[in-house]
Amino acid sequence: MKARARKAEKMVEQVRHPQHVAIIMDGNGRWAKARGLPRTMGHRRGVEAVREAVRTARHLGIRYLTLFAFSSENWRRPADEVGELLRLLKIFIRRDLADLHREGVKVKVIGAREGLPPDIRSLLEEAEQLTRANEQNVLVIAFNYGARDEMARAMRRIAEKLVTGEATIDAVTPEYVDEHLDTAGIPDPDLIIRTSGELRLSNFLLWQAAYSEFAFLPCLWPDFDRKAFEDAVRDYAMRDRRFGGISREIAS
Ligand code: FPP
Repeated sequence: MKARARKAEKMVEQVRHPQHVAIIMDGNGRWAKARGLPRTMGHRRGVEAVREAVRTARHLGIRYLTLFAFSSENWRRPADEVGELLRLLKIFIRRDLADLHREGVKVKVIGAREGLPPDIRSLLEEAEQLTRANEQNVLVIAFNYGARDEMARAMRRIAEKLVTGEATIDAVTPEYVDEHLDTAGIPDPDLIIRTSGELRLSNFLLWQAAYSEFAFLPCLWPDFDRKAFEDAVRDYAMRDRRFGGISREIAS
């Protein structure tokens, strides 16, 4: 193959390889119910699937992996379930942080910090602080996260700058809004995966998903393994992303 053709193929490969995958981890409760277990057992198995997803993302060279761990609406669940989800996050950070740091993973948390129990908040901040200089991969944990909340936070930040004269109305472009979201500095997700067969976004990354591809998979989150992740990425690679333009095939 000629060098130029090889180079072109490599470029296509890079374009088709997702840089950022975001996952709505759904189906823990149904996984447990199907086995006659309490819902909390589904969440515990869900943490194992989280570990495997982080490993697989690194293996596949996916630089950014965002996981929807706890939504701003999840507080409505029974107190014991909320307590278990908070406990699992704590255990995950305490047990896995050193390994993540050693492997060059930067941890970034998105979502509202206010209203979080102080021990959770300081653990999340400790994880961000310890790993802030890592470059290899980025694990974004969406915790107490809701996209509308995030957008309202960004609007408040921007409004403050307009009121104090730090910014003018003309400065408010889509890029400027990007810079005021919790995800500032993180590229938009190329691929959003949701497990458990539900076909909705549930207030997840609404702004950032403008041009994302979607994979709605039937498997329940605790069953989401390396093969399921690899299959979703392979399927993504076959898609023709046009970003409002026209197909590469038509254009050439
Ligand atoms: C949805 O399943 C899942 C959640 C609300 C929480 C996801 C949390 C984990 C996988 C574990 C903790 C995460 C980390 C990062 C340590 P569901 O309970 O809504 O399932 P259902 O729809 O079948 O009831």
